[in-house]
Amino acid sequence: MKFKKKILITGGAGFIGSHLLRLFVQKYSKYHIYNLDKLTYAGNLENLTVIKNLPNYTFIKGDILDINFLQEIFKVYDFDAIIHLAAASHVDRSITNPLEFVMTNVIGTVNLLQTAKQHWSNMNNKLFYHISTDEVYGSLNETGKFTEKTAYDPHSPYSASKASSDHFVRAFYDTYKLPIIISNCSNNYGPNQFPEKLIPLFINNIKNNKALPVYGNGKNVRDWLFVEDHIDAIDLLFHKGKIGETYNIGGNNEWKNIDLIKLLCKVVDEKLGRQENSSQKLITFVTDRAGHDLRYAIDISKINKEFGWKPKLDFEKGLEKTVDWYLKNGKWLENVTSGEYQDYYEKMY
Ligand code: NAD
Ligand code: DAU
Repeated sequence: MKFKKKILITGGAGFIGSHLLRLFVQKYSKYHIYNLDKLTYAGNLENLTVIKNLPNYTFIKGDILDINFLQEIFKVYDFDAIIHLAAASHVDRSITNPLEFVMTNVIGTVNLLQTAKQHWSNMNNKLFYHISTDEVYGSLNETGKFTEKTAYDPHSPYSASKASSDHFVRAFYDTYKLPIIISNCSNNYGPNQFPEKLIPLFINNIKNNKALPVYGNGKNVRDWLFVEDHIDAIDLLFHKGKIGETYNIGGNNEWKNIDLIKLLCKVVDEKLGRQENSSQKLITFVTDRAGHDLRYAIDISKINKEFGWKPKLDFEKGLEKTVDWYLKNGKWLENVTSGEYQDYYEKMY
């Protein structure tokens, strides 16, 4: 079969990447989708079982730090577009090991940009779509929202590495006319998220009656978006976004960590048939995260006005769906929390 487009998705075995792959492979049989992933602790092929045998899907195990390998696969597969998600993504790990974040997020991204630029002698109908984060904009006080024009002001090694990668993506557009799009999204939640991030970590701990470590006073605010809503926005921007542009994506759904954690306790207790709010006793205030950003909030007017996108799923329903998934997929949780995870958990908490 002659495919209309050959799309490389990097980081497709991770949380957001696996949702994107499942959507693209099943929705667009005219595209051949290639998933390039190193399979770090966060990459898990179990997330992709439903598509693994489909004829328009190919998995390529590899590292975006290996530029010779990238050049080789571009020669072999001649990709038309890239959606770049591969990254080191957890803020706490970036505080412990900043260099790894510079390598993967900065050098890895530049390797991909450079390879695409060299390979695409004709840049018509090509696209390098870079997936980024709202954390590049820094931290807000009680009021205001990040727009696409907010100046970058990253604080953690993770957000500094993502900000740097965004700058390189724009530099390749300005300097070489590489056709790029960037989107910056707020906190995602949903099935398949590695249990180092707040929501899956706390679901797992509530389930196992373990302490719930709340950083600082629990008053930091995050804006939460169900992962499938993020994927819909990526699908839209991939097909309709304007080359050279940046789009913010968010949930219009701000929560103080402590309020979110209490809601999560309520939902999990209900699902497990425990006495109402009995898990709240597990809440333990611990030393704050170094450089902890106070508040993130996203102004989504641009993507909303241009394409009519807005989040579809109500937060309480999304949270229930997420809790249901983790409680039903105990084996998945067991697999990802054995081995390296135990060492990580001990050192971290
Ligand atoms: P994740 O940690 O779940 O997955 C990252 C994936 O990248 C894993 O499959 C991993 O194996 C792969 N990877 C890591 N290093 C690699 C390398 N050197 N070569 C090839 N593959 C490598 O991350 P996620 O939460 O799915 O985030 C995906 C992207 O979205 C990231 O760029 C992140 O910055 C961005 N983002 C995430 C969120 C969020 O809330 N999770 C929000 C906004 C933006
Ligand atoms: O805003 C988008 C970003 O959201 C993404 O770019 C990152 O990849 C993603 O990890 C996420 O970053 P956060 O640092 O906001 O997410 P995390 O789940 O680690 O933490 C959410 C909030 O909960 C944050 O204020 C820190 C707090 N927290 C987190 C953990 C893991 C705790 O209080 N205790 C914890 O154990």
